Amino acid sequence: MPFVIAVDGPAASGKGTLAQGLARLYGLPHLDSGLLYRAVGVAVETSGGDLGDAAAAEAAARALGPADLADPRLRTREAGEAASRVAVYPAVRAALKAFQHAFAAQEPGAVIDGRDIGTVICPNAAAKLFVTARPEVRAERRWKQLVGQGETVSRAEVLDDIRIRDERDSGRAASPLKAADDAVLLDTSEMTIDEAADAARRIIEAARVRQGFTPKG
Ligand code: DC
Repeated sequence: MPFVIAVDGPAASGKGTLAQGLARLYGLPHLDSGLLYRAVGVAVETSGGDLGDAAAAEAAARALGPADLADPRLRTREAGEAASRVAVYPAVRAALKAFQHAFAAQEPGAVIDGRDIGTVICPNAAAKLFVTARPEVRAERRWKQLVGQGETVSRAEVLDDIRIRDERDSGRAASPLKAADDAVLLDTSEMTIDEAADAARRIIEAARVRQGFTPKG
């Protein structure tokens, strides 16, 4: 059975960085599932569509190809907001499911980060991490990242974005953001990146030993 690590959590919790580090450590491929939703949101906006139009979002999700995931526009603030809006549609989520399942089925395993990986996409994942941090801490991290990318935005605006997204991602009916019952919670509010990576590794090691997975090399 593939060794699947599910890393879920709210926007800018650090889950992507932690997932990347775990993937490197264990020699596993990594999927940032948020990119799929970002690509759908950007595709709808680029084609002049309306993010409130579920059918347009579903069509964009069905038409998604690997090249769409490499677009640098996916990392912008606007793309994050668009992603959160199209992610509420069950038909969009259903259209993106097969790709995520195929990714998770690879041998010897995979690391996937998102909102519903441990609960809906890979409920049988060998290891589940739910990464959180206080909204103010997440806003500060995301603000630095956006400014580093050349965006002009204030800390207060980013904190607002985060609060709105938390509410929408947790409050939606379809696969809301929530920790799986068997996920291990990791609050990184008071941790440096290295401390969080260490804590994540310790948690996942226990699951690795349990499953008997040995990384190559
Ligand atoms: O992880 P991110 O910030 O790139 O995600 C962008 C949005 O996509 C997020 O606000 C909600 C949605 N999303 C989701 O609903 N389910 C996932 N597995 C990943 C992301």
